[in-house]
Amino acid sequence: MTAPGDDLDRIMAVMAAAFDPAFGEAWNRRQLEDALLVGNCHYLLIASNGEVPETGAEAAGFCLSRHGYEEEELLLFAVAPGHRRRGLGQTLLARLAASAKARGAQRLLLEMRQENPAEHLYRNFGFTPVGRRAGYYRVPGGACFDAITFACDCQTIANCRKI
Ligand SMILES: CC(C)(COP(=O)(O)OP(=O)(O)OC[C@H]1O[C@@H](n2cnc3c(N)ncnc32)[C@H](O)[C@@H]1OP(=O)(O)O)[C@@H](O)C(=O)NCCC(=O)NCCS
Repeated sequence: MTAPGDDLDRIMAVMAAAFDPAFGEAWNRRQLEDALLVGNCHYLLIASNGEVPETGAEAAGFCLSRHGYEEEELLLFAVAPGHRRRGLGQTLLARLAASAKARGAQRLLLEMRQENPAEHLYRNFGFTPVGRRAGYYRVPGGACFDAITFACDCQTIANCRKI
């Protein structure tokens, strides 16, 4: 999936605001462009009203995923701080599950740094831990955190949350 330049701008604006620089998890524009060039990566944008943003309007959140056979992996997922805890994250995840299912995915996978508060959201959706990679994330100060892999059936998400 390719992205028009203004979608890249909108994603990068959310990325800059949403990810804590202490963890070094935000991607740069080049990484984003390269991922989207491969062809099996997909993104969704959400506006502050929960709709798809109008052309030229800013995004409040986005997600980026990579499809592979019967699975889709969530690579990036963020809502800008001023728009959090209003259900935009769960709406994005529900839309991602629906579109991944339409591409043939049976389940969603994601990898999360241990202790990320996003875990509450994932567990509410029915994601369960299926693996752990010790010390996978090394943050700019040198500390290491485990990566926890979560998985959830697309159908479970479709059954339990709004789209
Ligand atoms: C994770 C993130 C996308 C959630 O977006 P959001 O729009 O705030 O999520 P929602 O409003 O849909 O949250 C739905 C529910 O998830 C849970 N939840 C979400 N964020 C939470 C948090 N920080 N702490 C505890 N529970 C949380 C709550 O149960 C919440 O419902 P409630 O507000 O009624 O209690 C956002 O916090 C973010 O961008 N974080 C920084 C980037 C990041 O870490 N991304 C994930 C990488 S794995």
